[in-house]
Amino acid sequence: MRLKDKVAIVTGAAGGMGACTAKLFAKEGAKVVLADMIDADGQAVAREIGNTALYQHLDVTQESEWSALIAATLNSFGKLDILVNNAGISASHPDLFSTDIWDRVMDINAKGVFLGMKMAVPEMRKNGGGSIVNISSISGFVGQRIVHMGYNASKGAVRLMTKAVAVQFARDNVRVNSVHPGVMPPMRTSKLTGDPEVRKKLINAIPMGRAGRIEEVANASLFLASDEASYITGTEIVVDGGFLAQ
Ligand SMILES: NC(=O)c1ccc[n+]([C@@H]2O[C@H](COP(=O)([O-])OP(=O)(O)OC[C@H]3O[C@@H](n4cnc5c(N)ncnc54)[C@H](O)[C@@H]3O)[C@@H](O)[C@H]2O)c1
Repeated sequence: MRLKDKVAIVTGAAGGMGACTAKLFAKEGAKVVLADMIDADGQAVAREIGNTALYQHLDVTQESEWSALIAATLNSFGKLDILVNNAGISASHPDLFSTDIWDRVMDINAKGVFLGMKMAVPEMRKNGGGSIVNISSISGFVGQRIVHMGYNASKGAVRLMTKAVAVQFARDNVRVNSVHPGVMPPMRTSKLTGDPEVRKKLINAIPMGRAGRIEEVANASLFLASDEASYITGTEIVVDGGFLAQ
């Protein structure tokens, strides 16, 4: 069991990669707090895991809801070892200069991760350390023709915030790394990447010739969350079938 006796929070855990990650962490011995805004789905995933899991409502943009999440975690499981900042929205939109999209995507994808680290780091320091895994994207490295620049900016912010906090709290044994998925099953909020024609083109551009599987991202997060990665901080794992290597 690679996460025996650890306590983890996974945001955006009502479905997709977050749910997959929460289930994998629980299988590896962690107690897991699942957080999301889609309560019915999140509660169902927590029920499926069993009594080592707890669901808590969280809008990642709301500082008070983060406080409540941390309190619920400490109340139920006594400490916090791992935070996976996975919640996010997509931003493939016909108006590439939409200000509304910029505001919304930066709020959820970038500020949400900032608030998560702000709330988790003090608890981890008290506890002698911890591991934070921030889910960015290949969009945190390069631009894409159909993606609003706000998405790239938000995921680039996640990549650099990760390094800042890693450097600032390394002496407290708080490790912080980012994971960068490539083309995966479409997000709930994604219209364009779910379109079969668009998807065919995206997949053609991947050296491995296929989309990624959510388990492949969850496995990268598991490694970074675990003590196997004890000397790894401030860096990235790209899970993209070779896309960025071109
Ligand atoms: N699917 C992809 O192709 C892909 C590729 C690269 C990176 N990513 C990133 O991976 C992460 C997970 O994406 P996914 O594919 O599982 O998508 P998803 O849409 O299935 O899951 C995202 C989850 O985040 C939750 N969420 C959204 N806004 C929230 C908020 N304000 N507060 C709390 N929860 C909120 C949603 O309810 C949802 O359950 C995201 O950060 C995404 O940007 C996805």
